Amino acid sequence: MLSAIATLTQRLEQALVKAFGEDLAGTDPVLVPASNPKFGDYQANCAMALAKRLKDKPRAIAENIVANLDVADICEPPEIAGPGFINLRLQTGYLEAQLQAIASDERLGVVLVASPQKVIVDFSSPNIAKEMHVGHLRSTIIGDSIARVLEFVGHDVLRLNHVGDWGTQFGMLITHLRTACPEALTGSEQVDIGDLVAFYKQAKHRFDEDEDFKSRSRQAVVELQSGDESASQAWQVLCDQSRKEFQKIYDRLDIAITERGESFYNPLLSDVVEDLKNQGLLVEDQGAQVVFLDGFTNKAGDPQPLIIQKSNGGFNYATTDLAAIRYRTQQDGAERILYVVDAGQANHFNQVFQVAGKAGWVPEKVELSHVPFGLVQGEDGKKFKTRSGETVRLKDLLDEAVSRARADLESRIATEERQESAEFIQSVAETVGIGAVKYADLSQNRTSNYIFSYDKMLALQGNTAPYLLYAYVRVQGISRKGGIDWQNLGADAAIHLEDDSEFALAKHILQLDEVIAEVAQDLYPNRLCQYLFELSQKFNQFYDRCSVLQAEEPQRTSRLMLCDLTARTLQLGLSLLGIQVLERM
Ligand code: ARG
Repeated sequence: MLSAIATLTQRLEQALVKAFGEDLAGTDPVLVPASNPKFGDYQANCAMALAKRLKDKPRAIAENIVANLDVADICEPPEIAGPGFINLRLQTGYLEAQLQAIASDERLGVVLVASPQKVIVDFSSPNIAKEMHVGHLRSTIIGDSIARVLEFVGHDVLRLNHVGDWGTQFGMLITHLRTACPEALTGSEQVDIGDLVAFYKQAKHRFDEDEDFKSRSRQAVVELQSGDESASQAWQVLCDQSRKEFQKIYDRLDIAITERGESFYNPLLSDVVEDLKNQGLLVEDQGAQVVFLDGFTNKAGDPQPLIIQKSNGGFNYATTDLAAIRYRTQQDGAERILYVVDAGQANHFNQVFQVAGKAGWVPEKVELSHVPFGLVQGEDGKKFKTRSGETVRLKDLLDEAVSRARADLESRIATEERQESAEFIQSVAETVGIGAVKYADLSQNRTSNYIFSYDKMLALQGNTAPYLLYAYVRVQGISRKGGIDWQNLGADAAIHLEDDSEFALAKHILQLDEVIAEVAQDLYPNRLCQYLFELSQKFNQFYDRCSVLQAEEPQRTSRLMLCDLTARTLQLGLSLLGIQVLERM
């Protein structure tokens, strides 16, 4: 049963473990990819590790394992090298049969998980009345890709936008709106607070300068919290306006997400306090209600508290996240909750997770994970800013990427003396520009800071979206040139591997399921990017060495099948990164 769904590595590992015999059950076979193709495809290093334990020579142990190793359906007869490495080489027939099998599978051999989970991915989560910034862009792109991968392998994913739509800042925003934009509140006119950043700044300025404004703002907070109609309406206007702006970005990036902002948990905050109190976890500290944390101390070395309710009765970011955990585990039935939020909030999540754990809101089978990411930096290594030192607006950033992609494309079209329509240019530029921004972000290990460079992300060479898209386009070119109908390569269509570059490509294609399983577990989309980059390289090497349309049968059909598998693997992989492919570019 298990072997039917296991990946190749798992199958080999299982066979090795079986060959160890009962006494050594549970021993790690230490199976790794071969360091050099000369030695085969995989290498098991367990004999060396076992030598001490078994008080025998590694080579003798390896011989013993090999004598009992049943991999005849997958590998050539295993060989022992050096002190006791067990070398495994995949059989050509096995590779051909596997490729043949995935060729007729829409999912390219990637199976659904045996036990689907309810997973919540909390991502994007910008703040109302503030512009979405590059940090939110990272969260949006990474979170979406993680959600896509989890959905693809069969989990039930709820994508949540935990927007910052509540808090004391609404006092000044409402007060500013009432005086600066009263027409927004009569409902007679659709106001454009368009530049919400400027609006926020003005409100903040007045709040800092004008005592009367400040006290009216404080009053507005109280009104809003007590459900006063006029304050609620003003709040709604601000939220709607932001929502509209955010949605434009989501549409452009092809992001699906459900808004469930901080305000949603408002009615549930008192239950959080009540529950913590009943469990004896809540302590009064300088007028505030707090929970003391293990492992967190202040500068003086005293235990640090997490504030649940401020001395003025107000709640905060952490209280809302506690209410959200309670709701998500109890009402949504989430089994895995992922917070795709910048690394700077690591402490916040550690603290909140700890308190939720103490309060018993995290059932044993539930995993809470902060999925952190680093900062976006300018090419000078400093915080990413415009030339004049302002924060970069997302819309401008995307426009710039698209317009540079268009300029690149137009110059290529001119050199190649092609005739292309304006629609073609526009749509290719948009796909390449947006794809490049996403890929540049996803291809970095998310925990490191990453340097934002339009030139690098749009380059046709290197680990970039254009390079991958171009490999896909190459296959489409073959298909147009040869008038190929991929669905119908002939009933006797079969794969025969001959050239080294065909073997390398074939083996790589067959690793897709392992890579996707890894991303679904460890949540590093850069692993998938690296895989697709190497796939494109291996395809290009193959295509440079082997003729396809000009080849004799049966090679021609076999090579066409490899081309098709490459293109479909690229398309699937890129779709999991939220990137669309192109027929031509
Ligand atoms: N709105 C927050 C910010 O901009 C991010 C929220 C992340 N999600 C959460 N459940 N705390 O920093």
